[in-house]
Amino acid sequence: MKKTRAPTRVGVMTGGGDSSAINDCLGAIARQAALERIEVVGFRRGWAGVMEGDCMELRPDTVDPHTYTGGTLLHTSRTNLFKIEGGPERAFENFERLGLDGLIAIGGDDTLGVAHKLCGKGFKAVGIPQTIDNDVGETDYSLGFDTAVEIATQSIRRLHTTNFSHQADMLVEVMGRDAGWIALYAGLTGGAHYICVPESPLDLDDLAAHLKHRREAGKAYSLVCVSEGVELKAGNDTAGRMKVAGEADTFGHAKPGGVTYSMVDELRQRLGDKPRNVVLSYLVRSGPPSAFDALLGMRMGMEAVALLAAGKFDYMVASRGGDIVAVELEKALARSRTVPVELYQRAQRLVMVI
Ligand code: F6P
Repeated sequence: MKKTRAPTRVGVMTGGGDSSAINDCLGAIARQAALERIEVVGFRRGWAGVMEGDCMELRPDTVDPHTYTGGTLLHTSRTNLFKIEGGPERAFENFERLGLDGLIAIGGDDTLGVAHKLCGKGFKAVGIPQTIDNDVGETDYSLGFDTAVEIATQSIRRLHTTNFSHQADMLVEVMGRDAGWIALYAGLTGGAHYICVPESPLDLDDLAAHLKHRREAGKAYSLVCVSEGVELKAGNDTAGRMKVAGEADTFGHAKPGGVTYSMVDELRQRLGDKPRNVVLSYLVRSGPPSAFDALLGMRMGMEAVALLAAGKFDYMVASRGGDIVAVELEKALARSRTVPVELYQRAQRLVMVI
C-alpha cells in the first residue's frame, strides 16, 4: 500500500488462463489512460513478454473489444518470472528502457502475486482479478466468471434433452481447479441433480445411491455437475485411478481435467451401467463475454488507471457489493476465495430433492 506521484507511461499484461472480458478491460484501460494523458504499453504473452520486452503500444484505436471478442489480444502465458534466473532483473531493464513507471497486471492469484512481488522491489503495480475460477480473495467477482457460468449453465440445460431421450445418466465436468464456484452456480441454474466441488470430498457411494434412488423413483435420467478439481473421500477409490493430473506449470499447479473419465468407471462398478460424461473444458472460457463481465472489465480497467493516476499502487481493484473498490494486493492474496462447505451442502440438499 504505497502512494507516490502519478505515472505518465504504464505497462499492462495478462497472465494465466484467459477468459472472455479481458479485451473489454484493455479497451477501457486504453481509453481511460488517454483521458488521463497516460501512455500504455501492452506486454504480450504474460510475464514472458515482460521479461523479453515483447510489447506493443495500446491506444484506443488499437484496442477494439468488439473486434477482439474474447480471450486476450495480448496473448497470455503461465510464466512466473520469479522462477526464471535473472527474470526480475530483465523485467526491470525493460521497464526502464520503455520508460514505464507503472504496470497493470490482469490475472488470477499467480499473476497478481508476481505484481505484488514487483511492488516489493519498488515498482508501481496494480492488479485486476481475472479468472473463471472466481477464487481471488477480497472480490465478489473476478473477470470471466459470469460468462463461464452462463456457458456452463446453457450447456447443462441443453444436455437434459438428449439424456432424457436416451434415459442416460451424465456427468458434466467443468473447470475450476481449486474452487467449485462454476460447478456450484452452473449446477444449480442448469438443473443438475448432484454437484461435486473440490471443497468437499466426493463420496462415490452416496452419488451412486442417489442415481439409483432417482431411477427407482421413475426418473429417466440424472445429470451430475462435476468440478474438475474434485477429490475423493478417503477409501472411495476402488480403481485407484481417480487422480488425473497433468504436468505442473511454473507456478507449481498440476493441470487437472478429465476426472469424470475415472468417475464413470467407478460408477459402473457400483451401478452396473456406465454413465456418459462430457468435459466442457476450454469452452467455458471461450468466445464473447456476458454484458455483466464486459461491464465489470470496463469498470475495473477504469479504476486501475485511476489508482495509478492517483499515485496509488500495490492495490487490486475489487468488486464488492456492486461497487468497484481498491483493496491491498497483500490482503487479496492472503486467502483464496473458495466455496464455503455449508453453502455447498445447502445447495446439494436442494438439488437432490426429487
Ligand atoms: O485458472 C483457470 C483455469 O481455467 C482453471 O479452471 C483450469 O484448471 C486451468 O485454468 C487450465 O489451465 P490451462 O489453461 O493451462 O490448461
